[in-house]
Amino acid sequence: MPDPHDQPTEHRIVNPATEEVIATVPATSPAGVDAAVRRAAEAQRGWAALAPADRARLLRRFATAVDAAVEELALLEVREAGHPVGSARWEAGNVRDLLDYAAGGVERLTGRQIPVAGGLDVTLLEPLGVVAVIAPWNFPMPIAAWGAAPALAAGNAVLLKPAETTPLTALRLAALAAEAGLPDGLFQVLPGAGPVTGAALVDHPGVAKVVFTGSSAVGRRIMAACAAGVKRLTLELGGKSPNIVFADADLERAAATAPGSFLDNAGQDCCARSRILVQRPVYDRFLELLAPAVRAVRVGDPADPDTVMGPLVSARQRERVRGYVPEDAPAAIRGAAPGGAGYWYPPTVLEAHQAGPRAAVEEIFGPVAVVTPFEDEADAVRLANATDYGLSGSLWTRDVGRALRVSRAVAAGNLSVNSHSSVRYATPFGGYKHSGLGRELGPEALAAFTETKNVFISSED
Ligand code: NAI
Ligand code: MG
Repeated sequence: MPDPHDQPTEHRIVNPATEEVIATVPATSPAGVDAAVRRAAEAQRGWAALAPADRARLLRRFATAVDAAVEELALLEVREAGHPVGSARWEAGNVRDLLDYAAGGVERLTGRQIPVAGGLDVTLLEPLGVVAVIAPWNFPMPIAAWGAAPALAAGNAVLLKPAETTPLTALRLAALAAEAGLPDGLFQVLPGAGPVTGAALVDHPGVAKVVFTGSSAVGRRIMAACAAGVKRLTLELGGKSPNIVFADADLERAAATAPGSFLDNAGQDCCARSRILVQRPVYDRFLELLAPAVRAVRVGDPADPDTVMGPLVSARQRERVRGYVPEDAPAAIRGAAPGGAGYWYPPTVLEAHQAGPRAAVEEIFGPVAVVTPFEDEADAVRLANATDYGLSGSLWTRDVGRALRVSRAVAAGNLSVNSHSSVRYATPFGGYKHSGLGRELGPEALAAFTETKNVFISSED
């Protein structure tokens, strides 16, 4: 059992751009988790019994409430997570879109009728019950909604545990759900420490499924804890994704877009293309083009609409990043970052020989990329796959055949060709290898929150 003494009774929420305390949020005790699970189970029974059209309508109302609050939610995310305001607006809009998309699925969550002898055979998709979503701090709103929206749409109740550093938008979303008329207790937000509140949720026998996004270390622990109760589980555990640039690529575009692919959200992005692999003949030219693109990235006040990159989320995260790459270590390219208060770290590109053994293979989760030359297609694929991770990746080439071959050969769940796009609510998302288990988003998202039941009805006299 988690020890309630492992956590303070409240968390101080700090603006990472100023280091000012902006709020204190009470932590949920294990007893509070138990009470929340009971309330959620009660609410879930009523929710699952509603007409599908009524459930869909309530989720659309929730989406409408989020839409009306986009600016408010975005400004909250700027303050608690340091996201540039343009990104934060997109993130709040993404929650609205996820709810709309999931609402459209409620009435389309059809089972099957399979022809068999002697009667009628139907396959039903039933809600699981109470689902726990344990969210990280890097994209607090979208990642919470990736789990919550389809789980609710499939007839479940959701208990969301936000990260210690970023609970404010989650709490606001729960209030908006209540204002929109979602049943009391159906969607609750339980702030608190991972090893206490999070662990109490994972261990609770009333929780049927856990959706976790975060570090591999915690993911493994949660998977082991779920084994005890044979709990359903989705894991999204980050990556060390490649950006493969072939000699025949549009080099200008590849270089112009590369900074965004590893500096978005100050590199605190599970899909960050933090390993840039460049074919030998264009290696020097690519670095020449990349340098001004990296230095042009505006790092500063996240509330300024012209800012491209804000601070890291916390002092702790900046210490982690500095542990991989000290700010005075030799680098091929280094951008600028503000001094003074705030958890700033400059955009940094290392050549392979400059990266320490850990920086080359581990997820840094900061604005740092390592560039490595490769010889040919086979070499590119070998390097791309030389990692325990397999979340995403990009490849740049004008050769359609090569694009197809390399897309098939790279062991990762989300690839993009001549682009860095990877997460859309309408397409499936998730990782190969140690990057995760299961898939989120896309047309099958609701089904992942159901149990399959087969019923045979005899037509014998
Ligand atoms: P973390 O894995 O500790 O935190 C993620 C969530 O899990 C938080 O809500 C946390 O409270 C919760 N948690 C922690 N321990 C738990 C436990 N024993 N039981 C249940 N829930 C628990 O991530 P952390 O320490 O904040 O970040 C460390 C590194 O993890 C980052 O530098 C990055 O490399 C990686 N990470 C990857 C993410 C991704 O998107 N895949 C997101 C966040 C972190
Ligand atoms: Mg941790």
